[in-house]
Amino acid sequence: MIISSANDYREAARRRVPPFMFHYADGGSFAERTLERNVTDLADLALRQRVLKDMSKLDTEIELFGEKLAMPAVLAPVGACGMYARRGEVQAAQAAENKGIPFTLSTVSICPIEEVTAAIKRPMWFQLYVLKDRGFMKHVLERAKAAGCSTLVFTVDMPTPGARYRDRHSGMSGDYKEIRRTLQAVTHPFWAWDVGIKGKPHTLGNVSAYTGKAVGLDDYVVWLGENFDPSISWKDLEWIRDFWDGPMVIKGILDPEDAKDAVRFGADGIVVSNHGGRQLDGALSSARALPSIADAVKGDIKILADSGIRNGLDIVRMLALGADATMLGRAFVYALGVAGKAGVENMLDIFKKEMHVAMTLTSNQKISDITRDALVDLSKL
Ligand SMILES: Cc1cc2nc3c(=O)[nH]c(=O)nc-3n(C[C@H](O)[C@H](O)[C@H](O)COP(=O)(O)O)c2cc1C
Repeated sequence: MIISSANDYREAARRRVPPFMFHYADGGSFAERTLERNVTDLADLALRQRVLKDMSKLDTEIELFGEKLAMPAVLAPVGACGMYARRGEVQAAQAAENKGIPFTLSTVSICPIEEVTAAIKRPMWFQLYVLKDRGFMKHVLERAKAAGCSTLVFTVDMPTPGARYRDRHSGMSGDYKEIRRTLQAVTHPFWAWDVGIKGKPHTLGNVSAYTGKAVGLDDYVVWLGENFDPSISWKDLEWIRDFWDGPMVIKGILDPEDAKDAVRFGADGIVVSNHGGRQLDGALSSARALPSIADAVKGDIKILADSGIRNGLDIVRMLALGADATMLGRAFVYALGVAGKAGVENMLDIFKKEMHVAMTLTSNQKISDITRDALVDLSKL
């Protein structure tokens, strides 16, 4: 199959990765309306074409939390990412490093923190969930600190997991899941060899190191369900802010009032995100939520945005809506599933080229030039 875009990677991943893993990434919660709108609301934003402004010297670089980024994108935390390619988190982190952007390791990764940081020189970002077991949170934070992670991404939109109906249909969860997954592996030999056999152990590296026993994919959903803490409030986050010396980013903000709370709390950044449409179906798309959040807090705190970004044009759109940088989720997961590190590198090259086109034809030479002016207000036409 010829690959020229992230959408091509999605279709190739559909064939190469067994359905239980493909749909785990591809799916969202409930009726998947927010997932769908994340993509269509962004794609529907009209870019304002301008010409003849000498765009020969484009610059996509930014500085974020004292780090240089070759483009305004960070690889988002993705749980069980190591199931998309052999030791997948290591491969994705190396790809991000080679392309000059940070990689964020999920709490619930396959590879433990130290396995990934040993494979890269660039400081990694680490994502933490709010969990009932505060001992676990402290334990992983200490390890992330010791391993030199630079930025903490604190995900707050999962006090309880959203219902992912697709996972029951695909064999990720539900009746006969083990046998269904084995049958799927048999019919996907590339994945079975690369990940199923050579990619072991398939345990959640960070969780297993804490519990002292192997917590595998089957225990994953159960463990998450039991450990998410619906009682969490801003007050519970204070010890983490005091404990973590580096930049702290709150991920999962979708409302200007919550964004203002994040500023009051003293966070360094927020991620405007609905978790890629995997939590509250019916919530606003990030593209819709972002402008009023930017109006409320731009300049007081760094604004990252994700959910629905499928090409470099979408990155420019998110910046035009008020983001300082973006996070990429599914787009890199599909590429990882198809071709590992090389796939993620190629996808990032594609996104950068797409950004170049969008910046040239909206006449924005550097990232800080991109404002809402890069978009056409369709309501006024
Ligand atoms: C398979 C999968 C697993 C995810 N796991 C996590 C996670 O462990 N922690 C987290 O904060 N977000 C997680 N997310 C959400 C992503 O970090 C990101 O917010 C989302 O993928 C962005 O939307 P997009 O995929 O449409 O780009 C996950 C997303 C996917 C697709």
